[in-house]
Amino acid sequence: MGNRTFTMIKPDAMKNGHAGAILDRILKEGFHIKALKLTRLSPEKAAQFYAVHKDKPFYAELVSFMSSGPIIAAILEKENAVEDFRKLIGHTDPAKAEPNTIRKLYASSVGENAIHGSDSDENALIECRFMFSALEEY
Ligand code: RTP
Ligand code: MG
Repeated sequence: MGNRTFTMIKPDAMKNGHAGAILDRILKEGFHIKALKLTRLSPEKAAQFYAVHKDKPFYAELVSFMSSGPIIAAILEKENAVEDFRKLIGHTDPAKAEPNTIRKLYASSVGENAIHGSDSDENALIECRFMFSALEEY
């Protein structure tokens, strides 16, 4: 799994019409899409996905935002996928993100920051399984 990561194009980027440009950029950076779906998180599923943040002050807002509209979820493959993808998306806060990162280009705020990327190989596997039940098919 060291060569895989998990991503979601978040509701703000979907609503603002950035999904196509973001997917194009991901492919141009050398990631292969192993699985992809357009879906929507229920509040329960969003809460479960971000459960690690349940004691943070922004948790309720995060759950509400992540379940507010459609998302695109995908499994991406590339050597060193997790680290390279975090570099490509940039800092959590778009104001602090490096030039030309996906969040610098497409995110509007720390709360609505366009895209998710797994933060470790272990979490990538958990998150891929969370969204794609028959993972062995991919
Ligand atoms: P993500 O998990 O979505 O890829 O984002 P991340 O690793 O860069 O950031 P993380 O610390 O995991 O936080 C998860 C999401 O919570 C929201 N957040 N809001 N208002 C705030 O101060 C704040 N801090 C974090 C962001 O939407 C962040 O992506
Ligand atoms: Mg995170």
